Amino acid sequence: MESISIGLLGLGTVGSGVVKIVENHQDKLTHQIGCPVKVRKALVQELEKERDLKLGREVLTTDPAEVLNDPEIDIIVEVMGGIEATKEHLLSALKQRKHVVTANKDLMALHGPELLKTASENGCDLFYEASVAGGIPILRSLVDGLSSDRITKMMGIVNGTTNFILTKMTKEGSNFEEVLKEAQDLGYAEADPTADVGGLDAARKMAILSTLGFSMNVDLADVKVKGITGVTGEDIQYAEQFDYAMKLIGYAHRDGEKVEVSVEPTLLQKEHPLASVNDEYNAVYVYGEAVGETMFYGPGAGSLPTATAVVSDMVGIMKNMRLGVNGKSAVHPQFTKKLKESSE
Ligand code: NAP
Ligand code: HSE
Repeated sequence: MESISIGLLGLGTVGSGVVKIVENHQDKLTHQIGCPVKVRKALVQELEKERDLKLGREVLTTDPAEVLNDPEIDIIVEVMGGIEATKEHLLSALKQRKHVVTANKDLMALHGPELLKTASENGCDLFYEASVAGGIPILRSLVDGLSSDRITKMMGIVNGTTNFILTKMTKEGSNFEEVLKEAQDLGYAEADPTADVGGLDAARKMAILSTLGFSMNVDLADVKVKGITGVTGEDIQYAEQFDYAMKLIGYAHRDGEKVEVSVEPTLLQKEHPLASVNDEYNAVYVYGEAVGETMFYGPGAGSLPTATAVVSDMVGIMKNMRLGVNGKSAVHPQFTKKLKESSE
């Protein structure tokens, strides 16, 4: 192959980070996959928007078909967000035998099984490491590094925006609305931050984590959700006086055939390892019957950390392309059966 061409759907916080990593780490990428990587097309909403990128203006388009139907494009990288229309774009790409990388937990938590099935039927890879915990390679760790173990419990801070808000409210006494605005300006929050502060973003991530960690299909509808909108500065200061930290905690537990997944504001004793995870950082505690306790920590949101996960997924796909094993990877498998069904 002379080069590998990617088509971006979206060129915002994460998409611009992808372009920067492809530019700045081109030597390493070329060395790993044996040829250069090029951004051939990028779908945006506003062509005239100011963008601090070296991409030529001719690369940008507002027509999804120009990206999805371009025969030169090998990999579609979806970093635009949205659910139904975005799903149709990705199905169209997969049916044209283009591999897909997505950072979209909204989409994967709802339509992951259908998309993964379509990818597999078309001999394509569909990787989504960036959809959970930004720059932390937690999905690969669950399905690859811990593949031999039986995971029974996971606990995590998996939303950067709310952790940033709670940290600033705790340490600086900041006002909720002001610090939410700061998280938006830093690119941590979703375009509509309701899902962040309402806990739904964390619930989507916990559904994905439990699906992969417990090797079964956990529905988003089965995750109990409570966000941080009811948490006041007084609650936080009161907890501090008794040496507790207020955190938005995702919790997933498997006991035989019974699985419970929830997201809610939780008071943690200060010595708890998750209590010292601050700002936009995320952490996921995983308990496996054989390995015991493990903990994964890192930046959970933001341009370059999230883009690292996206580009690493691209590298995984490109390595599979060289080996001719796309669609057969053990990483990010599909679990189409619920535990109850599989045990019948
Ligand atoms: P963003 O900054 O709002 O960027 C979205 C990009 O998509 C923009 O370039 C926008 O175009 C384009 N876009 C949106 N809707 C479009 C449409 N209908 N047609 C054409 N272009 C459209 O969002 P982001 O923060 O990068 O997040 C992107 C995805 O990554 C989301 O699924 C998000 O949940 C996920 N994610 C984000 C983070 C993070 O830290 N931000 C971390 C992990 C995962 P314009 O530039 O012209 O507006
Ligand atoms: N809005 C998300 C967060 C982005 O704050 O965690 C990363 O998924």
